[in-house]
Formats: sequence, C-alpha cells, structure tokens
Amino acid sequence: MEAINASIGFDKRMAAQDIAGSRAHAAMLAAQGIIDAKDAEAMREGLLTILSEIEGGKFQFSTALEDIHMNVEARLKEVIGEPAGRLHTGRSRNDQVATDFKLWVRDQLDAVDAGLSALMRALVDQAEAGADWVMPGFTHLQVAQPVTWGHHMMAYVEMFARDRSRIRDARTRMNECPLGAAALAGTSFPIDREMTAKALGFDRPAANSLDAVSDRDFALEFLSAASICAMHLSRMAEELVIWSSAQFRFVTLSDRFSTGSSIMPQKKNPDAAELIRAKIGRIFGANVALMTVMKGLPLAYSKDMQEDKEQVFDAADNLMLALAAMEGMVKDMSANRESLEAAAATGFSTATDLADWLVRVLGMPFRDAHHVTGSLVAMAEAKACDLPDLSLDDMQSVHSDITRDVFDVLGVHNSVASRLSYGGTAPERVREQVARWKEALA
Ligand code: ARG
Repeated sequence: MEAINASIGFDKRMAAQDIAGSRAHAAMLAAQGIIDAKDAEAMREGLLTILSEIEGGKFQFSTALEDIHMNVEARLKEVIGEPAGRLHTGRSRNDQVATDFKLWVRDQLDAVDAGLSALMRALVDQAEAGADWVMPGFTHLQVAQPVTWGHHMMAYVEMFARDRSRIRDARTRMNECPLGAAALAGTSFPIDREMTAKALGFDRPAANSLDAVSDRDFALEFLSAASICAMHLSRMAEELVIWSSAQFRFVTLSDRFSTGSSIMPQKKNPDAAELIRAKIGRIFGANVALMTVMKGLPLAYSKDMQEDKEQVFDAADNLMLALAAMEGMVKDMSANRESLEAAAATGFSTATDLADWLVRVLGMPFRDAHHVTGSLVAMAEAKACDLPDLSLDDMQSVHSDITRDVFDVLGVHNSVASRLSYGGTAPERVREQVARWKEALA
C-alpha cells in the first residue's frame, strides 16, 4: 500500500510551494482570530526552518508520511510542538495540493515564457545577419521559390511567439487560488480567501470549492501549450538535421552542439537537434496521459489525480532542456551563405517569376503563362541547364514576344527583392519584421 500510495518520491519538488501555501494559510488564520498570533509566529518560523533544511538537503523525507504535505506538517510538529496541530484548521490536503501544484505550474509557465523569448532573440539575430541571403524555399521538400534566410528564421519567431501567447493566456486563466476550498465543500471557519489568494500572487480565490479541488485544467493547458511548442521545436530541429547534412550544407553546427562518431572519424552528428526532435514524444505523451487520467473522474478529488505530477514535471524539465539547447544551437550555428545561394538557383526556383513576368509584361492570362513557363522548364531540363542559362532564341522559340528583359527576373536576388507584399520574403520586409521583434523582445 505504501509503495502505490506514496507520492513523496516526486512531490517533494513542490516543497517550496507547500511551505509558501502554509505560511499564507497560517497568517490568515491568525488575522481572522482562528488561531492566536503566538502560534502563527511559531508556525512561520518553523516553516522557514523546514524550508532551509530542505534547501540544504538536510531534510529526512519519509515514505510512511506519504506526501510532501504530511512530511512538512510532521516535521513542523517536531520543530514547534503542539501549535503545529492547528495549521490544518480550515483546509485539507485537497485544496493544499491543488494550490501547491498551481504555484509550481505557474513558475514553469514563467520559465517557459523566458526560455521562448531567449530563443526568439537568437533567431532574430540570425535573421538580421542574413536578411538578404537567398536560399531555396520548399514545399513538399521540393524547391519552390527562393526565399531569404532572414525570412526563414523569422517564420520560427512567429511560431514561438504564438507559443508564448498560449503560455501567457494559460497563466491568466489559471491564476485563481484553490486554498480554502478545504476538502470539497468549503469550511465553517471564518477564513479570508481573498487574503491567502493575494499573499500567494493569485488574482482571486476560485469561486467554487468543488471545482477548485478537482480542477487540473491548468496542468492540461500547460501540457497542451508545451506539446505545441515541442512540436515547433521538433520541426525546427528536423530542418537543422537536414540542413547540416553533407548533401545540404546550409548550416554548420558548432562543435559544442554536435558529437563525433565512435567509429567514423569524419562524422559530426547533430545529436542535440535529434534529441529536441524527439522530445515531443514524451511531452505530448504526458498530455495524453493526464487527459486520460482526468477523463471520467467524478467530482471532487480522487486519488487518480496524484498521477498528474510526474507527467507535468517530466514534460516541464524536458521542454526547458529543449528550449535551452535550441537557443544554444541557434546562437552558435553559422549559415553557409554560398551554399544557400547556390542551392537557391537550382530546381528552376524562379519559374514563378518567369510566369509572373509573362503576365505583367506581355499581358498573358496567368494560366497561359504557367503553360509557357512549363515548356521553358522542360527545355532547360532537356538541356540540363537552369532557366537563366537558356538563350533568348531558346525563349523566343517557345513564345516569340519574350524579350531580353526577362533575364532580370530569373536571378534569385531579384526574385526575393520583388516579393514585397506584406509578410513576403523581400529583405526590406524581413528587416521591418526584425525591427518590430527586436523592439518587442527588448
Ligand atoms: N498526495 C496527494 C496528491 O498528490 C495529496 C492529496 C491527498 N488527498 C487525499 N484526500 N488523500 O493528490
């Protein structure tokens, strides 16, 4: 029973939150005249002593005492004696654990927020350095149109910005205090829930005691926002794995963020990127696990809910690790400008520019222009050359109105410079976005 029942092995991570909650509760009990001021002061000092014992690694955790709440309370009895028994007046472990866990998750939301903004800053720096470096843009992982390195980096900034906004949004919604809901029904003691809520940095007390002790939405919102963020990290990691290969050579990862092979001396492996790519597995796994634990639970508290913590702890640890590793990799990596540019010109990447020219200059309907361009691509393919390598005679053999001016739009630099529409890849537009984000992230 002890083995299946105890949670102290993992919920000791909430010791600081548990002690903060108890301190707020004790001060409130005294302010309301429910316990006397002398006892409250003894509790305050005792709890601070216990906190320093835990922080100093001197605290003896006991499995027989089941969880962090009872471990702290039992120790308080040893430290201050009889008054310790009055601390649990008007509360229950049910509102206590909900409060502790919310405080823990709230700290994580703030840490993830900070981790995301650090990563975004690193991406903005990359974008600024290479705002006008051309590279192939892909759809279906087939060369589509040239884009700029800066634009590609800024795409991730937008993705991580949405992650941040999800995290902040979750924080706003979760910031209601369960403490004082007691076991499930509230309490007959004249407690002041506004006071404890305020002391713990919550916006207000949770309005329904049944809901307050049975709600784990805040943990699920954290896990779902973490899952989407981990998915973004995974996509970016995948690009780094591809880009750092000998076939692509788009980026060089630093030695600090790569490893060697034990048998192949030439290898430099993108292990950090691969591990980040994989972290989504456990983070999304945690999301599925907790959703499944919560599904079908009747109100209010059930011990099933003790299964919430390890999932959230593991997801949070690994998300923070992935964010830090990605930030380090992005800061350290160097984009190979020449390789990017050489690749940008392959795969007939300016075929759309050619079709657009036929529309703009010759007034052709786009569908006809698409057809003419297709013939020119086929011709270049047959001659094993790129579009700009075709002669004017070649071009005119497909459509006699084509003039020499067409070659202006076939170069990759002109191509990206022409994509000036809002949100487009033109260096001018990229620099505007870089400036906007630099200000927002300052
Ligand atoms: N260790 C428990 C948990 O994590 C604390 C709450 C226990 N409540 C109870 N009624 N047994 O959920």
